[in-house]
Amino acid sequence: MNSAVRRIAINTGGGDAPGLNAVIRAVTLGGIDRGWEVLGIRDGYDGLFHDGGVVPLDRDAVRDITHLGGTILGTTNRGNPFATGRGAEVADRIRELGIDVMVAVGGDGSLYIAHLLTAYGIPVIGVPKTIDHDLEHTDQTTGFDSAVSFATECIDRLVSTTTAHGRVMVIEVMGRTTGWIALHSGIAAAANVILIPEIPYDIEVVAARVRERAARGQDYAIVVVAEGASPIGGEVTTIAGSTRLGGVAGHIAVQIEELTGKEARSISLGHLLRGGSPTAPDRLLGLRYGAEAVLAISAGARNVMVALDGDEARLVPLADIAGRARLVPMDCGALRTARSIGTCLGDR
Ligand code: F6P
Repeated sequence: MNSAVRRIAINTGGGDAPGLNAVIRAVTLGGIDRGWEVLGIRDGYDGLFHDGGVVPLDRDAVRDITHLGGTILGTTNRGNPFATGRGAEVADRIRELGIDVMVAVGGDGSLYIAHLLTAYGIPVIGVPKTIDHDLEHTDQTTGFDSAVSFATECIDRLVSTTTAHGRVMVIEVMGRTTGWIALHSGIAAAANVILIPEIPYDIEVVAARVRERAARGQDYAIVVVAEGASPIGGEVTTIAGSTRLGGVAGHIAVQIEELTGKEARSISLGHLLRGGSPTAPDRLLGLRYGAEAVLAISAGARNVMVALDGDEARLVPLADIAGRARLVPMDCGALRTARSIGTCLGDR
């Protein structure tokens, strides 16, 4: 038991993910139960510097929020205070507020910022969240299940219109540099082709699959592509004038139409995958992570991220998380499954 803790704070940073409010609730209730004061920082660390940006969190504030998407604290993914030379100011403000431990809920970007904060003497506990599932050293990230579930539902819906018209539908899903969402939702929705960043694709292979299907009397095809996928020897597709990923499905649809003569359409599910109510597993996971964060603080742990290894909670130094993306391993079960059921992965 660490008797020095009187006041903790929690913030959510980076892209929102379903399940964040469950984390906030569990941290708040667990903290209050231990006699700690709990503060919420709004909009990443921005709230430290604006009126009403630091709010007390009590039982009322976190009642009936577990099922809500987004984050009651707001977030930003433009707010790396260290990139704008404000790191020391953030640390000073946290000290000024008498915060003993900062609970930072985030993906790799936000946890990297949290790691930098520790260098300024701010004790931090990290909690993993990201729909992309791309954090190292943990088996689960809050938001991934909701994103995969909704992507699967969307693909299911697109199958009926695609079969009705005998078309090719190319469906783009988020995931940044990794293909976890595409792979899991694509398998779950029985996509014919799944393209992920970890396996650069050959468009001729994709076109050949579409033709093979047509030759077998299947005049439609469902292609699920991760936003970060790229052709062999080629580049990722970005939104014009920015470095943001997006648009690969459109290119692939045009190419498939040219190569096969089949009518193709594309759609990007985009931020739909981040919105809406968390699934039950994500609610449970968020609450679990929040509870583990409180237990870690009580036990005196600092500057670590709470992680899950199977069902076992463990603590990983924030330094080990920073700046790494957990890619889909080539020997993982999901990829083996896809290959075993004959899904085309765009490689030869
Ligand atoms: O990291 C989560 C994520 O949704 C990625 O899948 C996606 O590339 C990115 O965030 C989009 O961010 P923004 O909300 O800035 O468009």
